[in-house]
Amino acid sequence: MNLSTPIPLFRNLKLTALLVALTVAVSSCYYDKEEELYPQIPGSECDTTNVSYAQFVAPLMATNCNGCHSEAAPSGNVVTSTYEGLKISVNSGQFRKAINHESGASAMPQGGNKLPACELLKIDAWIASGAPQN
Ligand code: HEC
Repeated sequence: MNLSTPIPLFRNLKLTALLVALTVAVSSCYYDKEEELYPQIPGSECDTTNVSYAQFVAPLMATNCNGCHSEAAPSGNVVTSTYEGLKISVNSGQFRKAINHESGASAMPQGGNKLPACELLKIDAWIASGAPQN
């Protein structure tokens, strides 16, 4: 390929053009790598081992759900602020459908963005392990 074409200014300075192209190539590679270091890519950087109710699920509910699903005023009669309440909608399957925006349940959090992919994977792992109160 002709390396000098994208940089008309240096058309006659082939060495300079090559150096500039190399610098751009090297720095863009580095940038790509940096992005790969902190992704939310399912299955790669997402640690789904030993997901804890107390350490992960309960705080996630507190941040995203309990405002509308407290025991005192549970929207749709769904309680996410207690283990017992959450377990009911986990067992019915509505919890998983709702947070994954699958058909058959209202998408949750209502009016908000879907939870990040890694958080959904961790929830799946927690449900798969029997949704324990760990
Ligand atoms: C802004 C208020 C609001 C927030 C935040 C919210 N919900 Fe809801 N949720 C509702 C309302 C209202 C309903 C009942 C009406 C409906 O189904 O749309 C509901 C219904 C549900 C249902 C039953 C859905 C069905 O179709 O059976 C589940 C499960 C649920 N929410 C879970 C959650 C979870 C988990 C979160 C956090 C990730 C959350 N909600 C965040 C308002 C909210």
